[in-house]
Amino acid sequence: MRTPRSVREADVAGKVVLVRADLNVPLEGGAVADDTRIRASLPTLQLLLDRSAGGIRVCSHLGRPNGVDEAFRMAPAAARLRELLPDERITVLENTRFNPGETKNDVGYARELADGCDLYVDDAFGSAHRAHSSTEAVAHLLPAYAGLLLEEELTHLGTLLGDVDRPFVLVSGGAKVDDKVGVLQHLGGRADAVLIGGKMAEQLRADNPLDFEVQLPSDVVGAAAFEADAEAGVFAVDELPDGWLGLDIGPETRRAFAQHLAGARTIFWNGPMGVFEWPRFADGTKAVAEAVAANGGYTVVGGADSVRALNQLGLSEKISWVSTGGGASLELLEGKELPGVAAIPS
Ligand code: 3PG
Repeated sequence: MRTPRSVREADVAGKVVLVRADLNVPLEGGAVADDTRIRASLPTLQLLLDRSAGGIRVCSHLGRPNGVDEAFRMAPAAARLRELLPDERITVLENTRFNPGETKNDVGYARELADGCDLYVDDAFGSAHRAHSSTEAVAHLLPAYAGLLLEEELTHLGTLLGDVDRPFVLVSGGAKVDDKVGVLQHLGGRADAVLIGGKMAEQLRADNPLDFEVQLPSDVVGAAAFEADAEAGVFAVDELPDGWLGLDIGPETRRAFAQHLAGARTIFWNGPMGVFEWPRFADGTKAVAEAVAANGGYTVVGGADSVRALNQLGLSEKISWVSTGGGASLELLEGKELPGVAAIPS
């Protein structure tokens, strides 16, 4: 894997630095529900401060808003960042996705971001699989460097691309189904077992384009409606009543997945097994988190929601590498060079 040049090589004293971080954090009731990604962005910001950067403009996307949307303002994430690293040289720009140019990798918007800045540091590993104005186009307008988090992520995930101890078990779930199925297609061959839960399992049961075997849930916790307190019960997958939704993997599936995970020497887990934010549908994700944490091999967990689940369970310390990337880590494992990384010179 090519190594992009490091922010440690940059002369930042007195300069204005544009930092692309991934502050795409889960929000609840307008507050940051898990600040892992914010904390992960601190070492690069601290390095820039220590090396006397004149100004630091931090930009990020948050969620998938369609234009300006009050629910996706950066303010809660910016406030948390200020609490963790109070320094008047740091400013947090508004959600990059409020600008329609961002996701089109529009150079005009990239110019707006670059305006008044001397250097660009990309530390947004979680967004490095997106060729967007703030992750790709802007890197061609300013001298570009990789941040410390981006570097560290590439090192750890690179380990999974090499000769891993086997069995290598991949566990995938979560809501961004369309993003992940294509990636899984490429990844399946590298893993010895692929366990699928969550919404993705439902999609694969209906239409499975994968040309390798995957373990889908045999039972689910079904609910009569998509509500935290809906009528619910455990069903074999083919006995779920019409109109009901599978909101978690069931106890038989949890046992089967845990057994697979216990025998693994290398694990990569991305995406929760159900709607774990609602306690009645959290047991599947909890079972996977516990099985991954109990494994003594090399374990990597990626994606904001899986990481949040680990944090809530107090299990993050037991994981070899907790990645800030969800889709980005999957695409990297696919063997692709990510656009956000490719744009930074060596
Ligand atoms: C993520 O949460 O995986 C990253 O922040 C990227 O978000 P996106 O899938 O909306 O581009």
